[in-house]
Amino acid sequence: MNKERYLHKLEVIREAGNYRELRNVQHNGFLIHCDGREMLNLSSNDYLGLASNPSLNEEFREETDVKLLSYSASSSRLLSGNHEYYGLLEQDLRDMYGREGALVFTSGYHANIGILPALAGKRDLIIADKLVHASIIDGMRLADAEMMRYRHLDYEHLRELLFNHREKYENVFIVTESIFSMDGDVADLQELCDLKKEYDAFLYVDEAHAVGVRGTNGLGCCEEMGCIEDIDFIVGTFGKAFASCGAFVVCDGLFRDFLVNTQRSLIFTTALPPINVAWTRFILGKMPEFFGFRMKLAKTAARLREVLTRRGFETRGDSHIVPFLCGSNENSVYMSEQFRDNGFFVLPVRYPTVPKNEARIRFSLNAAIPDEDYDCLMEFIDVSL
Ligand SMILES: Cc1ncc(COP(=O)(O)O)c(C=O)c1O
Repeated sequence: MNKERYLHKLEVIREAGNYRELRNVQHNGFLIHCDGREMLNLSSNDYLGLASNPSLNEEFREETDVKLLSYSASSSRLLSGNHEYYGLLEQDLRDMYGREGALVFTSGYHANIGILPALAGKRDLIIADKLVHASIIDGMRLADAEMMRYRHLDYEHLRELLFNHREKYENVFIVTESIFSMDGDVADLQELCDLKKEYDAFLYVDEAHAVGVRGTNGLGCCEEMGCIEDIDFIVGTFGKAFASCGAFVVCDGLFRDFLVNTQRSLIFTTALPPINVAWTRFILGKMPEFFGFRMKLAKTAARLREVLTRRGFETRGDSHIVPFLCGSNENSVYMSEQFRDNGFFVLPVRYPTVPKNEARIRFSLNAAIPDEDYDCLMEFIDVSL
């Protein structure tokens, strides 16, 4: 046994300023208690502020017989874990998206590492945006298909790759996120739909950061951009704006049946606890009502970008995820400490998670945070930073 190499690797990580630790935290609504301080939590994915909404919780418990719902499915969905709430949730997803097939998974990670390997084989090609999430990259690695990347949001580059390579493959999968989690920028789904039609390819869109947050009913950027029917695989997660856990894909019925029969990350894992599936379904039914929260997120994000830009700081994107670019890893650590010292819980995102010299602080906005608290944040950036 050689333990030296693990120690050495940890040392390398530490020296590069990238050593990670698990912090103990406590939550109190949109506040977080950490390192002996109470701060405004600007680092969570609870975008609509539903995770700690007491009246929602109460309403759920009143209308659902929670005593009958256990905290474990105790089995895979393919064995005895397919509680009736799964079927009801999938029916609701089909109805809301107006699509033939819907399938629920244990997490977005399980969805992304399983769907592409199930569908894309040796004669196929996957072409993904350069900045897709690690779970999609892992899914591409597990697939037998060839893999190419196009420059981030550069659809001319994508077109060039399709033009040069489409003919050589049986099936081609174009893969993107709709809202990118590190830059907060948004894919042009209409343009991707045009390209996929022109080159007879499948389009796979991960809406993890957009479901709940975009579209009139909260169905995501595909709803906002009017292309639900044209996207072959719409993946969404329940662990962010839905304040739950799990994930889903909506697709044609054929692919739903195919995934049930072949997707290893669906077949070989314990199903979600029934209580969570019931809660997710309850939240999905309420999604259309949260339009005001979606509007507030958009307005607050625009204000924050305006203040950052006015102060000469670099920001990007067009969503409720607002990056504040700080340059070096060291500067992002320093800046994030300034924010935390003043009551705003943000963390640095450093190389190699983002490109060198593009280390940043990432503000994840939450619709439950009162305007007065956001005013304090803007004032801090405007006056004290
Ligand atoms: C784009 C994207 N897809 C998938 C996931 C994974 O989702 P989950 O947390 O449900 O595993 C994430 C998580 O942050 C994500 O950002």
